[in-house]
Amino acid sequence: MSVNNENDYIPNQMKLIFSSRSENESFARVAVAAFIAPMDPTVEELTEIKTAVSEAVSNSIIHAYGENENGMVTVECIIEQDRRVVISIVDNGIGIEDVELAREPLYTSKPEDERSGMGFTVMESFMDKLEVESVPGNGTKVTMIKNLDLAYEF
Ligand SMILES: Nc1ncnc2c1ncn2[C@@H]1O[C@H](COP(=O)(O)OP(=O)(O)OP(=O)(O)O)[C@@H](O)[C@H]1O
Ligand SMILES: [Mg+2]
Repeated sequence: MSVNNENDYIPNQMKLIFSSRSENESFARVAVAAFIAPMDPTVEELTEIKTAVSEAVSNSIIHAYGENENGMVTVECIIEQDRRVVISIVDNGIGIEDVELAREPLYTSKPEDERSGMGFTVMESFMDKLEVESVPGNGTKVTMIKNLDLAYEF
């Protein structure tokens, strides 16, 4: 058994599970922002994280489940050591056949809905790392990592 000392960092984590309804996109972004707020992120960092979460969650709601509102979306957030924030968005929807193609800027499978195909590009530019794992017919997991800047005390 290990004895607690200052080197034992215990990550703060949360998990949300909600229905694939469009109104839950704002619920997810606000919940993640509220969870991260005690870390004193900059306004810019918070905006970037909220936008990236919105993009990933809306993809699960729109693409993974389509009209089906019975699907569930899971958002997990872990604040790791050194202000590293790891966020994952998981659905059990239709999955992505070609992840590389889907991640290309301007690629969308729904041009008729006036989608711009920029969701993954936005996530990639706002976060430090983006990983997309998908199994067609099974679902998709998007993992995003952002290292928050050091908080300064005045
Ligand atoms: N969770 C998902 N399940 C199934 N397909 C997905 C999922 N996320 C993304 N995709 C596929 O990847 C494509 C690209 O996603 P991306 O978010 O970059 O663009 P978009 O959603 O089509 O447009 P925008 O995000 O600009 O409104 C989508 O058109 C869709 O085919
Ligand atoms: Mg999108």
